[in-house]
Amino acid sequence: MNQFELMSNYRFHYYVTGNTVVELVQMLKDKAGIGNGRCAAFTSSMGSSGTISAGDRIKQVFPEHKIIGLEPVQCPTLYWNGYGGHDIQGIGDKHVTWIHNVWNMDAIMCVDDIECKKVLQVCVEEPGKKALIEDFGIDPVKVELMSSIMGISGICNVLGAIKTAKYYGLGKDDNIVTVATDAIDRYYSVMNDMTETYGKMDQREAYYRTEYIMRGAKLDWIREGDHFSRNCWHNLKYYTWVEQQGKTVQELDAQRNPEWWIKHQQMVSEMNSLLKEKREKQSVAV
Ligand SMILES: Cc1ncc(COP(=O)(O)O)c(C=O)c1O
Repeated sequence: MNQFELMSNYRFHYYVTGNTVVELVQMLKDKAGIGNGRCAAFTSSMGSSGTISAGDRIKQVFPEHKIIGLEPVQCPTLYWNGYGGHDIQGIGDKHVTWIHNVWNMDAIMCVDDIECKKVLQVCVEEPGKKALIEDFGIDPVKVELMSSIMGISGICNVLGAIKTAKYYGLGKDDNIVTVATDAIDRYYSVMNDMTETYGKMDQREAYYRTEYIMRGAKLDWIREGDHFSRNCWHNLKYYTWVEQQGKTVQELDAQRNPEWWIKHQQMVSEMNSLLKEKREKQSVAV
């Protein structure tokens, strides 16, 4: 599947991920007394930009909600047409994908790939887990859980969420939702390289990284989604999609109209019926 272009990717995350977030924030409030039942922001680092499409649904339910796109400092494509190599696997492919509704994005924020890897080490290695439990008082069950569901782009999403909270001055009851997009099982060799480069991380170093990178998150590399920025992000699609991938200028221009996105959102129920019909036929055939 061409995940960068096919609107089924957009529709899946708009409908499934978006509505899941809407239900989850209410559940968090009702069952755990966490948050105000709303979603203040959704942060997502973009690969295909499927996941960030959830923000379009969340904003329809919570109009004050901010959609924050994330990319590596080392490859800031949307931030200022930048380029470069980076080490956050799965994101930052140096173009704006066809399915990305840049007209609804409230800001682009960049996150440092080395900081992501340093924080990942804190989450997954024993001295780091000890620091989180003993120095920061985090519940050991949560620390253990976090160590198994985090990878480099997941940490990027979390660091972006912290930056978002600071930038918009969000408080204790405001939910910022993000996604743990990968897990450590893909990154053991990256962690070994980190040890070779920076030396063995002890509890003191883990404390310092948590304090400096997470609590001390800086408000640099942020560009708000005003009219000018959104036009720049949209116009960047031209080179990939018209010059290289055969879309017409008319098709590209059509994306400026919010109705274009709404039309795709409204196709969800039609697609669901078609899928259901097909599955039923298949099960009868078996
Ligand atoms: C590890 C990882 N992180 C992040 C992403 C980005 O998600 P999306 O493609 O939905 O933008 C991907 C996408 O494949 C991925 O593999």
